[in-house]
Amino acid sequence: MPDQYHHKTARADFEFIDCKHEDQPFRAAFLEGMTADEKAIPCRYLYDERGSQLFDQICELPEYYPTRTETRILRDSARKIADLIGENAILIELGSGSSTKTRTLLNVLESPAAYIPIDISAEHLEASARSIAQDYPGLRVIAMCANYSGDYDLPDVDGRRVGFFPGSTIGNLTRDGARELLADWRKRLGPDSLMIIGVDLKKEKDQLEAAYDDAAGVTAEFITNILARANRELGADFDLSQFDYDSRYNEEAGRIEMRLRSTRDQTVEIGDKKIKLAKGEAIHVENSHKYAVDEFEKLARSAGYEPVACHTDPDRLFSLHILAT
Ligand code: AVJ
Repeated sequence: MPDQYHHKTARADFEFIDCKHEDQPFRAAFLEGMTADEKAIPCRYLYDERGSQLFDQICELPEYYPTRTETRILRDSARKIADLIGENAILIELGSGSSTKTRTLLNVLESPAAYIPIDISAEHLEASARSIAQDYPGLRVIAMCANYSGDYDLPDVDGRRVGFFPGSTIGNLTRDGARELLADWRKRLGPDSLMIIGVDLKKEKDQLEAAYDDAAGVTAEFITNILARANRELGADFDLSQFDYDSRYNEEAGRIEMRLRSTRDQTVEIGDKKIKLAKGEAIHVENSHKYAVDEFEKLARSAGYEPVACHTDPDRLFSLHILAT
């Protein structure tokens, strides 16, 4: 039956590689962060199943301009980008999430060789990657469950490697961290490769702060979910009502800082560990760095890249940089 045949074809073109074991387990990372002088939890642990759902909701919020703006930039410049990329591309997506923006690129690429989505959320990754494999018959899809900044080899596929790092995920890293990540990926991609990277632009404080503290409270729930996850997975006893979401734009550092603040003195139990929090004490959860166009190009150069093009929207909210390795 043609139907069955099609199904088999799609499956044969789909591979799943699990490199997650290389990442620090949530328990170790959480306890380490909660016993540090300044409490902090790495933001990559925000993305359990619930966190990924909440993040997808954030992307639809009226205040959260990055997703729809980047999608528009991508759509408007897709042809130009496809021309730069050429045939036989191996599209490697760092932190692929729902792979929504990828489709915009895949739709215009000339006979792409493979799509390699990399994401730490296994369930989310598998579902999104399978749906790409189904919708683009003949495209080889190799899903890698890994941290985008991890140390691993890329699958050996013939073609031109094109890194795709949309969503301003790079904003989670400090400026030094971003330079390092870019430099690592330049080596991993190898010569004659491209890196396409979405970067949120510096802009007025009010607009930035609204984007990270929406009226519906979805962002607050997303950040708080990291404590809910500790309750679910580590048997912690966080009372979520005893924490406030606190986010602000630190203009000097050029970044939004997202924290949870204890609303009173309290002791939390995580298994046999007791953690004390003073009233007003913060748990740092996430940073989101913002860049001017020339500032980011300078950073890319310092990581060894040659900036090839930069596309922005008419309101200059967001930028999409194309860098050559
Ligand atoms: C996924 C890192 C791009 O910084 O805009 C959104 C994460 N956190 N709202 C961002 C996020 C709260 C997002 N990135």
